[in-house]
Amino acid sequence: MDVVFASRLETEPQAWVAALRDALPEARVRLWDDGQPEGQADFAVVWAPPSDLFAREPRLRALFNLGAGVDALLNMSGLPDALPLVRLEDGGMAVQMAEYAVFHLLRESRDFGRYERQQTERRWRPLDDIDRAAWTVGVLGAGVMGARVAQACVALEYPTAIWSRSGRAVPGVESFSGPSGLDALLARTRVLVNVLPLTDATRGILCRRVFDRLRPDAVLINIARGGHLVEADLQEALDRGQLRSAALDVFEREPLPPDHPFWMDVRIRVTPHIAGASLMDGTVRQIAAKIHALNRGDAITGIVDRNRQY
Ligand code: NAP
Ligand code: GLV
Repeated sequence: MDVVFASRLETEPQAWVAALRDALPEARVRLWDDGQPEGQADFAVVWAPPSDLFAREPRLRALFNLGAGVDALLNMSGLPDALPLVRLEDGGMAVQMAEYAVFHLLRESRDFGRYERQQTERRWRPLDDIDRAAWTVGVLGAGVMGARVAQACVALEYPTAIWSRSGRAVPGVESFSGPSGLDALLARTRVLVNVLPLTDATRGILCRRVFDRLRPDAVLINIARGGHLVEADLQEALDRGQLRSAALDVFEREPLPPDHPFWMDVRIRVTPHIAGASLMDGTVRQIAAKIHALNRGDAITGIVDRNRQY
């Protein structure tokens, strides 16, 4: 069995190769372009792989993505139609996504940003007590990430609702689906957290229409993909005061260009796509277990539905 690791973004590819070798001792695991012969790979483990991967490795039986989102892979030219594309399921990311969302929820609902400013002025001034009913959370996407985010908000007793295609239930969380369900969720939401996959159906969903349906003085937390957000609509909603702030981890162009206005906007918190990192141990264990299952002829979870695009 031949496994190739191909990532243009990974800073320590050799560490991933070593971990895969430990987890798959029976396999020849190699780093893409390391001088080994090509065309032999049964499986590829990838994140932002080189564009000629599919031409040079035509015998692939499955492609394992090192992340949950497969939008970039689906857009690669040459991706064979019949090649099973397997996304990462959690891999240590979901709890980090929940931390990210909760951090920004608490920053706003508990006024921690204002207390930071008060400290710079040596000012001792308790602000109003929290009214949880005023901090309703709406989560877009009820998958591995969305469900974990919603559970974390509910655990802290924030009234929380979730929206998905199928209306998937999450304990303790009000669940919505479909276009009318989206409007109903937005109408009750003050803090909107986006954890949808980027597909033809969800591109540009974070737009003026959605912002205008939120409760006033709302907060946007986008930890899914930059392509979900219409940037001009966000800026306009902030200027109008319909939104009070936004926490953005993902952008249409990454890295965010140095001259982009978001960097200097005090209402916007920018992070460099770090909300949920796939952690090596759990990720490698998951991929190795799935490779073993495929070799036994067993079914695996996480295969992307090409029609749904996630
Ligand atoms: P997932 O398990 O596949 O869940 C996707 C959810 O979105 C499902 O609940 C699905 O509905 C819902 N959905 C999809 N299309 C929809 C539509 N048109 N209308 C309504 N709901 C729709 O995915 P995941 O593992 O939670 O990951 C979600 C996304 O998070 C990834 O695609 C990735 O872009 C992003 N992400 C970002 C980071 C980061 O570091 N910033 C890290 C990890 C993931 P159903 O349940 O009905 O199918
Ligand atoms: C990260 O953005 C992922 O999709 O896993």
